Amino acid sequence: MNASPSSSLGASRHAAPAAEPLRRHVASLLGACKPGFALPGPFFTDEPLYAAELEYLFGRHWLFVASEPEIPEGGDYRTFQIGPWPIFIVRRDDGSIGAFHNTCRHRGSRILLQDSGIAGATLQCPYHRWTYDLDGRVIGCGATGEAPAAQRRLKPVHVKTLAGLVFVCLADEPPDDFDDMLQRMTPYLAPHGLTRAKVAKQVDIIEHGNWKLTIENNRECFHCAGHPELLCSLFDFFGEIDPERMSAPERATYARYQSARPVQEALWARAGLPWAEIEQLHGRPTAFRTERLVLDGAGESMTADTRVASRRLLGDLKEPRLGTLHFHTQPNAWFHFLSDHALTFATLPLERGRTLVRSTWLVHADAQEGRDYDLEKLTSVWNATNAQDAAFVAETQRGASSPAYEPGPIAASEYMVKLFHVWYEERLRAEMRL
Ligand code: FES
Ligand SMILES: [Fe+2]
Repeated sequence: MNASPSSSLGASRHAAPAAEPLRRHVASLLGACKPGFALPGPFFTDEPLYAAELEYLFGRHWLFVASEPEIPEGGDYRTFQIGPWPIFIVRRDDGSIGAFHNTCRHRGSRILLQDSGIAGATLQCPYHRWTYDLDGRVIGCGATGEAPAAQRRLKPVHVKTLAGLVFVCLADEPPDDFDDMLQRMTPYLAPHGLTRAKVAKQVDIIEHGNWKLTIENNRECFHCAGHPELLCSLFDFFGEIDPERMSAPERATYARYQSARPVQEALWARAGLPWAEIEQLHGRPTAFRTERLVLDGAGESMTADTRVASRRLLGDLKEPRLGTLHFHTQPNAWFHFLSDHALTFATLPLERGRTLVRSTWLVHADAQEGRDYDLEKLTSVWNATNAQDAAFVAETQRGASSPAYEPGPIAASEYMVKLFHVWYEERLRAEMRL
């Protein structure tokens, strides 16, 4: 892997340096990686490394956790467990979003216990009934009669939104390059009107594999022959394309792609939608990539028949054939924005070998199930794809945990897996001062 010097990459300021034995341990694991090859087995099996990833990657980078339509009204909240940190986000009555550590300032109980709910004007810890306002201030200490100490507030978590996507960062001083991503991505995302959407369906699955396997699997389509439903709409051409080396069916698919591309670009131009690729996958803490992709068939949506699943299009979009705007952010999310629906995927590690993948389908807030969209048609392709991916990840976790496992070479079409490894090493070296 190609690591850049940590000093240029902006380690979180004021963060305590990692303990020396852990630094030496992680440095020696990183030193055993071969550029252009899969990660060695300990990257999926080693507990101290996993603890370091939680603290220095998940604890210090911007993480996508939810979309704004998941907390549409004042008082709506969602809770998350990020490594050892329980947190929540809450919508205030003025429409702003707060994010806090879900740890009571009395004796530490979690305050909000459900995955989601409505808090009302105040939050109350269920243990001794300390109460808080939605700015995190203590406004009552239960039945003790003690006056709340003004300086004791719920610890805040940094929160930012990007065109309806909610990101949090647990670091004291988060990476300052989020606003650059915001500025570059807003013209791509805003036309899809996510803030005017609603959740049609959310599905949580647990993949029995390390979080990096979930991410690596998402960063390549070399395995996409295992996704027959997805391939009805997705052209699986990523990285260098060499038609000379294609099979006859691949060449036919490539010919369809080549003839669809100019038609699609004309439609994007007419709708005023940017489509150029932006690839910022390493050399910065808040790494991301976007590209508007042509879809096969009717080119409208990621459905079995490639037509829109919701006839009420997102935002003010009028043209159903827009392909998909693919977007992903390191270390934990990917997205598809279509004309008729948006899909968000948030992953969070649960344990070293277990990872939560939360998929959310969003449609226009005015779309009515049964009248404007059919839930089965909307969700069937990605439900099938998620199940297939979960099996790939689980099998790789088992196989790569074997003492007999040796990392193999990464193919040209898997170049984004390689770039994920570069980012991963850069960020660990920068944050751990290796
Ligand atoms: S722990 Fe929350 S009120 Fe006691
Ligand atoms: Fe996949």
